[in-house]
Formats: sequence, structure tokens, C-alpha cells
Amino acid sequence: MPLLWQKPLKNDVGQMAEGRFLVFEGLDGSGKTTQMTRIQKRLTGMGIESVTTCEPTDGPVGSLIRDMLEGRMSSDPRTIAALFAADRTDHLVKPETGVQALVGKGRVVLCDRYYFSSYAYHARDMDLEWIITLNSLNAQILRPDLTIFIDVAPETCLDRIRAGRHRLDMYEKIDILKQVRHNYFAAFDRLRNTEKVVTVDGDAPEDAVEKIIWQHLQPFVKSRVASDII
Ligand code: TYD
Repeated sequence: MPLLWQKPLKNDVGQMAEGRFLVFEGLDGSGKTTQMTRIQKRLTGMGIESVTTCEPTDGPVGSLIRDMLEGRMSSDPRTIAALFAADRTDHLVKPETGVQALVGKGRVVLCDRYYFSSYAYHARDMDLEWIITLNSLNAQILRPDLTIFIDVAPETCLDRIRAGRHRLDMYEKIDILKQVRHNYFAAFDRLRNTEKVVTVDGDAPEDAVEKIIWQHLQPFVKSRVASDII
């Protein structure tokens, strides 16, 4: 079966436009949301319509996950990992608003977290290979054009989280964040032949981080502007 992101499709106004699926990854407090907003502004400035989305989603599986992460419901790490994979499938294949449908319509989709979050957060409790297998259907449905990892020191992340919130999720502790960061790099290495990932130093000032992310993204959206829109 041909993969969706490989073929240009017609968008709503009949122009040939290739959708893009660009994923932002990082520890909690790494500045993903801030940078996604900045990148979306840049895209809008270029006349490129984009959509931002995130995982866990605000759908039924996503709310179940949040209840577990925030301690309102008891859970087992294996159950959480499986729910994240299910939430992801729903996020991808939902009619009309699903990521696959949006990319199919030629949209640039900016997504806050995708399967590398599962590889990093759940490999603390389970074998990475099991989590990769659990997510293999998602990888088959849609592989990101690019994953941008915003790398920030776990200590800095925790300071930022504490400054912004009263309550911390179950993962927001220094030892856990350190382990998660390590797991991210292990997963990038494990999947270096199949996934396109760039790491950006997120400890730099916001403007500088944005500039570097933009440099990495530009080749993906530039070709789109040149061949499909102008
Ligand atoms: P996120 O929405 O980024 O956090 P917040 O809204 O609090 O800024 O993600 C919530 C948590 O979910 C985060 O700690 C990472 C975790 N997570 C996983 O454990 N596995 C996953 O597959 C994903 C996508 C997120």
C-alpha cells in the first residue's frame, strides 16, 4: 500500500499540495508548545495554513490517560502504554479531523508529541522493543516527515514546570526526567535508519531556538511553497 506522506494530493482549492507531519518532542517544560506557536506564526506569515495538535489528545482515550497521569485513577504502566498507542491511532485515523485526513488534504500538521514520547516515557518500565511493536501500526499509518527534539536539561525543565503549575504529573520528578531524556536518545539511535530526527539545543534563548528549528523545517515547507502554492 503506498504511504500517504509520499504522494502529493489535491487540497481543498484544487492545488497540488503535499501535506507535512512535523512532530515536536522533548521533556515536560522543554518549550515545545512555545516553539510550535512561534513556528505556526512563521508559517502563517508565509501564507501556509497549518494545524497544531497534541498527544495525549482531548478525545475519550486521552482523557482516560490524563486521569491516570494525574492520579485520579489507578493504573499500570503497561495499561498506560497501550492506551497511549490507542489514543495515537484514534488521533491519526479519525475522519475529517484526524492527522491522516489533514495531511491528506495538504495541511502542515504540527504535533506536540508522537510515538517517540512513548519510547522515552514507557521504556522506564518496559522493553523498548515491546513499545515499538505496540506502536508499529501507528508508524505504518503515518511516519513524521521530521521529528524535532528540543533538548533542555532536566533540572531546567523541572524549574520551569514548578514555576508554571501547582500540581505535577506523575513523570515530573528529576530522576524520571533524566531517565526519559536518556531513553529519548536510545530510541533515536535504535531508529536512526527509519526516522528523521533532529536535536535542537533548547537551553538557548527562545528566539535562537526558534531560528534553529526553522532552519531544519524550512526545506520541508519551502518545497511546498515553491511547487504547490506560488
Ligand atoms: P503533555 O500533554 O505534553 O503534558 P502537559 O500538557 O502537562 O504539558 O504530556 C503529558 C504527559 O504524557 C507527559 O508527561 C508525557 C506523557 N506521555 C507519555 O508518557 N507517553 C506518550 O506516548 C505521550 C504522547 C506522552
